[in-house]
Amino acid sequence: MHDPRLTLRVTAVFWETETVKRFELRPLDGTPLPPFTAGAHLGVELGPNLFRSYSLMNSPRERHRYEIGVSLDRNSQGGSRYCHERLRPGDLLTLSPPRNTFPLAASEAPALLIGGGIGVTPLISMAHALSEAKKPFRLVHAVRSRAEAPFSEILAELGETVTLHVDEECGGVLPLANFLATAASGSHLYCCGPQPMLDAFIAATADRPTNTVHTESFALPETASPGAGFTVELARSGRTVAVAPDQSILAALQAAGVPTTSSCRQGICGLCETVIVTGEAEHRDSLLTPDEQAANRTMMICCSRSRSDHLVLDL
Ligand code: FES
Repeated sequence: MHDPRLTLRVTAVFWETETVKRFELRPLDGTPLPPFTAGAHLGVELGPNLFRSYSLMNSPRERHRYEIGVSLDRNSQGGSRYCHERLRPGDLLTLSPPRNTFPLAASEAPALLIGGGIGVTPLISMAHALSEAKKPFRLVHAVRSRAEAPFSEILAELGETVTLHVDEECGGVLPLANFLATAASGSHLYCCGPQPMLDAFIAATADRPTNTVHTESFALPETASPGAGFTVELARSGRTVAVAPDQSILAALQAAGVPTTSSCRQGICGLCETVIVTGEAEHRDSLLTPDEQAANRTMMICCSRSRSDHLVLDL
């Protein structure tokens, strides 16, 4: 199977705040990197069973580098701690190519981008793209304190389109409803940040057309409960493999000696995406959009299961 993973070099590490670092990644040989669209993320392999996805924050126009921002999570299960304590310029990283589950709408309408803390990273890439396309937008970045405000130089380059809201200087958290009220009707509204901010954003946009409201969460997918057992037929060889209730399709195929490609095993990198020939997937990944899941064309076999007793895959 073709393995699309990339090996890139960490070429620079920028100290943004006490808890946020920005990493620049470049190809080893100067070859242009796979293109991406604003809002996309990279899957990064940080060690055995340590896989994280990080939003790309540079302009999608740039093909010579990727930039990601990483916030040190006090409750880190290893990912952000590894990036902050171990990752140095010169190190090599293995990544799955960019995927986008938080794209900009194809629209000329104004965009309001609202980011909380490190959640601003995909919105910075969006701001670059909108600015380069000369489309109207406004970016609001909310942080608790000025000392905790990363990317100030990059945001300053975006000029007056950026508003910084500092909770401790403004007497409280971002008054989301006020900002949303300033957005012209028909505006596309984007939010990425901590769960309380996303919850408030969703509540405040309940009366807006759903196709103009866009959110992304940085939460890791929850471990799904096991499902029923089923069988998987491999269309190319005609083999059939049984998948036990507590086993993933990927694990069953690997146990049966079927070649597979995988990395995160959490439904976030996309490396195990497989075409469905017949049957209906029960999608449990964090990559496919609701429309893509409903289309039932592909599935992530590391985490998704089958609604039918029998599933035929293009393997
Ligand atoms: S291995 Fe990463 S999505 Fe399946």
